Amino acid sequence: MTKTGKDITFAAELLKQGKLVAIPTETVYGLGADAFNSEAVAKIFEVKKRPSFDPLIVHIANINMLDNLFEKPINEKVFALADAFLPGALTIVHRKKNTVPDIVTSGLPSVAVRMPSHPIAREVIRLSGTAIAAPSANLFGQLSPTKAQHVAKQQMDIDYILDGGDADFGIESTVVAVHDDLVTLLRPGAISIEELKKVVPEIVPISEIKEKKIESPGLLKSHYSPRKPLYILSKEDILLPQNAGLLAVSPNSTMITTPQTIYLSNNGDLLQVAANLFSALHAMEENPAVTEIYVQLVSEIGIGVAIMDRLRKAAYQYL
Ligand code: TXA
Ligand code: MG
Repeated sequence: MTKTGKDITFAAELLKQGKLVAIPTETVYGLGADAFNSEAVAKIFEVKKRPSFDPLIVHIANINMLDNLFEKPINEKVFALADAFLPGALTIVHRKKNTVPDIVTSGLPSVAVRMPSHPIAREVIRLSGTAIAAPSANLFGQLSPTKAQHVAKQQMDIDYILDGGDADFGIESTVVAVHDDLVTLLRPGAISIEELKKVVPEIVPISEIKEKKIESPGLLKSHYSPRKPLYILSKEDILLPQNAGLLAVSPNSTMITTPQTIYLSNNGDLLQVAANLFSALHAMEENPAVTEIYVQLVSEIGIGVAIMDRLRKAAYQYL
């Protein structure tokens, strides 16, 4: 079993040596390797069983590190977005420098970069002396990990799990591409489109773009799935089977209960729902009394857009 611990210096040494280390971030745990070491990055794809057409996000410790990743001239909207949201749960895609290995970007001419707000994430990146390519630290298609033990349970062949406690947001970063005058929301996430519009009013969600000008190979219909059937509840009057697990928005949000109910918040606050969502799905996956999982809808405003995006992908087979 992979060792889990809190030794930041040790984790940074391993990263320097081209090893794989799971690192905590404020969104979800990442499976990190030196972004400039192609062999190390290749191991990420191998242990995650991730298709090679799905590019990785590169994590930095400070904004100066953008110079090693983004091709000059860097679009000024990148700096406007960075000023407003970084460090934090925003990933920015921009034309890459030649020196960024193709394996990181799956051959795309652009690279995705993010500076996490989690202090341990930034410290381990700083000590490693390089930028860290990291997808979420789960097997491909499975639930994203929000705790060190969620990573351990995937039993991937990695070198160390750096335990930084529970992820604050519990939902992956928002991904935005900046290409010339086109600003595209590629993946809804912890930062909402309403917040982004204050800085880049011209931003459009990729789903609204007709021509295939923008590529985001990671946008699969099915993703983030628990190993048990997951159904999104649309009606309130449904009678759930005995072996059902229910993820309810709050104690007041539903009349339905089962012996296995988890409340995702105490008052319907969607930030709490997001923070607890993957963790609750992991708990249902591990609970032997539960054979199928039901989850309540949330309204698609603010972070609710990202919550419903993840739920639809997790439930895709059963919609
Ligand atoms: O919060 C997060 O973003 C977490 C933590 C670990 O930072 N990471 C994460 O990585 O969610 P991953 O690999 O699960 O998702 C990366 C997303 C995918 O949808 C991928 O297609 C997109 O970013 N992406 C990466 N590079 C891209 C590029 N050059 N162009 C377009 N999309 C890109
Ligand atoms: Mg992922």
